[in-house]
Amino acid sequence: MKIIPFTLFIATCSLTIASEVRYDNFTLYRLIPKSLSEVNILTDLETSHLGGYDFWTHPKDVGVSVDVLVSPDKKSSIKDMMNSNNIQYEVVIENVQEKIEEEAKLNEANFKGGKVGFSWTSYARIDQIYDWLIMLSSQYPRIVTVIEGGRTSEGRRILGVKLSFQPGNERRGVWLDSLIHAREWIAGATTTFILNELLTSTDPGVREVADNHDWYIFPVINPDGYEYTHTTNRLWRKTRKQYGVVCYGADPNRNWGFRWNTGGSSSQPCSDTYAGPNSFSEIETDTLSRYLRSIGQNIVAYISFHSYSQMILLPYGHTARHLDNYNQVRGIGLRGAQSLAKRYGTQYVVGNVAETIYVATGSSMDWVKDTLKVPVALTYELRDKGNNGFLLPADQIIPSGLETLDSLVTILLQTDRLLLNRNRTVV
Ligand SMILES: *[C@@H]1O[C@H](CO)[C@@H](O)[C@H](O)[C@H]1NC(C)=O
Ligand SMILES: *[C@@H]1O[C@H](CO)[C@@H](O)[C@H](O)[C@H]1NC(C)=O
Ligand SMILES: [Zn+2]
Repeated sequence: MKIIPFTLFIATCSLTIASEVRYDNFTLYRLIPKSLSEVNILTDLETSHLGGYDFWTHPKDVGVSVDVLVSPDKKSSIKDMMNSNNIQYEVVIENVQEKIEEEAKLNEANFKGGKVGFSWTSYARIDQIYDWLIMLSSQYPRIVTVIEGGRTSEGRRILGVKLSFQPGNERRGVWLDSLIHAREWIAGATTTFILNELLTSTDPGVREVADNHDWYIFPVINPDGYEYTHTTNRLWRKTRKQYGVVCYGADPNRNWGFRWNTGGSSSQPCSDTYAGPNSFSEIETDTLSRYLRSIGQNIVAYISFHSYSQMILLPYGHTARHLDNYNQVRGIGLRGAQSLAKRYGTQYVVGNVAETIYVATGSSMDWVKDTLKVPVALTYELRDKGNNGFLLPADQIIPSGLETLDSLVTILLQTDRLLLNRNRTVV
């Protein structure tokens, strides 16, 4: 659903204001349905597509909380609705604009240092990330190669790096991507953190998985959208291609050509889950899918980072049925979640997309799984469980990175075990 911004504001008067689209007095509510009828009321509210409500998480089950961002003019009506139906609710973030400005201030303070490199104490801009990738390729010329995975509608490149620590890893490729959804900043920060650890860590487990795979790492696969979240609208999710007069962008994770637009996506161009006019209508998904095809037979694990909700999701999104090698991949995901929890106790849920969140079609993971027959394809929904939502404070980047890397090491060791002495086929 598209939020109608309460006010539009041109950010010229203060450098600390990062976004033109403001969320003054927008409130994030957490609604907790106690019965199936309450779940249905919330589902109706979401599917009625009334302006002023942006569902950050979705009605699923009794007791499963639902996070909804509400514009100031809709606050009294949502409160009335919750009260008259006796649905429990709480305020999670009173004024979202304040939180956005705090985050922007912190990021700006870090950027003042210029190109001093990465510290993972703030969220980096696209140019800063790309400069860093290019710097890595000159710092580690034998290991790191800059690769171009595709292009964007605004003419940017989708840049990543290939890491190859030793020959013989060609058929053991691991793919990491993030920021297909622009506002999920922790996802990109986690990917760059992991990339740095792969290059610099001396931990034996990290070294084993780093050294024994070729890595294809794309921290930002929706660069136009990501830049837009820094300049104009912190909560933007989609690409930036124009549709009609007033709508922009398709949801790039509803745009891939497997079961495209058959559930959990929208045909409305202004919707946040707009599937696009056809599959691969977005130059980002079209070009990246071609790149993926070109190396697909080498990929043993495809991993896409999103936020938030703390989940490790597996294919597919169109059905809750357990297809392909579901049991094996779920087992691997569960072990990954156990490893993730060890460091700080952070709990992740594991399951396929349709059974764990909702029916959603056209995702990159499902296309990769079906088209490239990648043995292990997973999507992480990173921290948190809603206290900050997409606005995760930057002091959680390093803890998130560390625990996610713990799980990734386990997942890849298990993947290697699964594939031992076998050709790279879906087993
Ligand atoms: C936000 O709400 C406060 C308190 O009700 C009010 O004083 C303020 O003017 C509001 N801000 C905007 C931008 O509407
Ligand atoms: C793996 O694939 C190659 C080429 O397709 C084939 O020659 C070989 O027998 C296969 N090995 C196994 C263990 O299936
Ligand atoms: Zn996402």
